[in-house]
Amino acid sequence: MPVPANFVLRLGSSSLTSVVSRQNRIVSSLIGSNIQKRNFAKASFHINTPDNKITLNFDFTDENYVLVRKILSKYPNNYKKSGIIPLLDLAQRQNGGWLPVVAMDKVADIVEVEPIRVYEVASFYTMFNRTKNGKYFIQLCGTTPCMICGSEEIKKTIENHLDIKSGETSKDGLFTLLEVECLGACANAPMIQLNDDYYECLTPKSIIELLEACKKGVPPPMGKWGSLPMNGQVSCEGPSGKTSLIGNPVFPKIREGGFSGSVDPKTVKDQMAY
Ligand code: FES
Repeated sequence: MPVPANFVLRLGSSSLTSVVSRQNRIVSSLIGSNIQKRNFAKASFHINTPDNKITLNFDFTDENYVLVRKILSKYPNNYKKSGIIPLLDLAQRQNGGWLPVVAMDKVADIVEVEPIRVYEVASFYTMFNRTKNGKYFIQLCGTTPCMICGSEEIKKTIENHLDIKSGETSKDGLFTLLEVECLGACANAPMIQLNDDYYECLTPKSIIELLEACKKGVPPPMGKWGSLPMNGQVSCEGPSGKTSLIGNPVFPKIREGGFSGSVDPKTVKDQMAY
């Protein structure tokens, strides 16, 4: 059965069962109907676009298949589905920061579940982007501590500087802005997450400097503790420097060969599964 040109796939719910047959991808005729489109939120749908349709292909690179095997080796053979989240993350990174539907299908194939089980995960967790983002994905925290410390001003500065609103991508494809809830760096509010990294203690001046550095392709590297307060302070230290926890930190030993005591950001990333 041919796939309708304007195929619409509902994501994030198991209530519409048999939406897609993994074997032949037969699409229920209900899915493309206007009734379905009207009844569910936009975020619950996949809508075919030229760069995101089920007739395209996605596969992991040979290099990433090594990581796929490494991820799956952590789980019993009959619980491959436990690897859905790290595999989606790997697929997203390989695909430039977003997950086309065919990448989700590939993960479903690998962990041997129906695609809907993977769509549910990808559409539930906001760490997964199901539409294309700019090269620099800016997640701006707008929750109370950041808001009190000036996140609204930071947001307006970004919007004016890049000529985009939250949820939009700049015309040059470099930046996507999204206002999100607390990112857990409230002590250094206001802050943004830029791709994987945290830039904190922002001012309108420093956020413009950061955006301009990104345009040149050289965002400032992370500081000593894996984030970068943009006001020159070290981590969460105030103007008096470090006033507590001044002894040598004792790091938990997770397992043999685990954390060595270094918190260099690269080391931390290396300690992840991939
Ligand atoms: S409120 Fe912004 S990081 Fe927590």
